[in-house]
Amino acid sequence: MNTLVVYFSKFGNTKMVAETICETLGSAGSGRMKDSDQLTASDFNEIDLVVMGTPTHNMNLPKAVRPVFERLPKKALKRIPVAAFDTSYKMSWWLNQFTAAKRLSRKLRKLGGVRVVPPETFHVTEREGPLYDGEIVRAREWAHTILARLGNDKPG
Ligand SMILES: Cc1cc2nc3c(=O)[nH]c(=O)nc-3n(C[C@H](O)[C@H](O)[C@H](O)COP(=O)(O)O)c2cc1C
Repeated sequence: MNTLVVYFSKFGNTKMVAETICETLGSAGSGRMKDSDQLTASDFNEIDLVVMGTPTHNMNLPKAVRPVFERLPKKALKRIPVAAFDTSYKMSWWLNQFTAAKRLSRKLRKLGGVRVVPPETFHVTEREGPLYDGEIVRAREWAHTILARLGNDKPG
């Protein structure tokens, strides 16, 4: 299984989560990382799974990420399994409705992607990080859940 992990990261925390997820998913085949700035439709060639993660900025996608979706052809992800995550502060249930992961998930589906798991959030303690203890472990577990849903998880 060939996985593409697309990410944007201002301070490096989302990139760290993306690397963890890429490493875990890559164990079932290959895993490649791509900065969202450099993403083009040809990156999806031969790809079986696309995971995308960004920080939440002002209860939305970071501004720098939005042009990516305008650039890609309408059905660039036709039937490719997709999963979305973000990093953000720990927020109240109400504010938690406005995470970048939820926006990303909708955008990926609009491009024709098929959602494998619900959008997930990994938490930072401060604006520039670090991540809370245990978040990297949780990222690895989330990636294993994706593998299990796709039937690629190894027992044990
Ligand atoms: C301009 C800006 C706006 C932000 N807005 C939010 C927000 O609305 N909700 C939130 O939980 N975190 C917010 N944050 C905190 C970021 O989510 C945090 O910086 C990010 O998780 C760190 O990831 P990174 O190291 O990959 O950039 C904001 C950060 C910045 C720089």
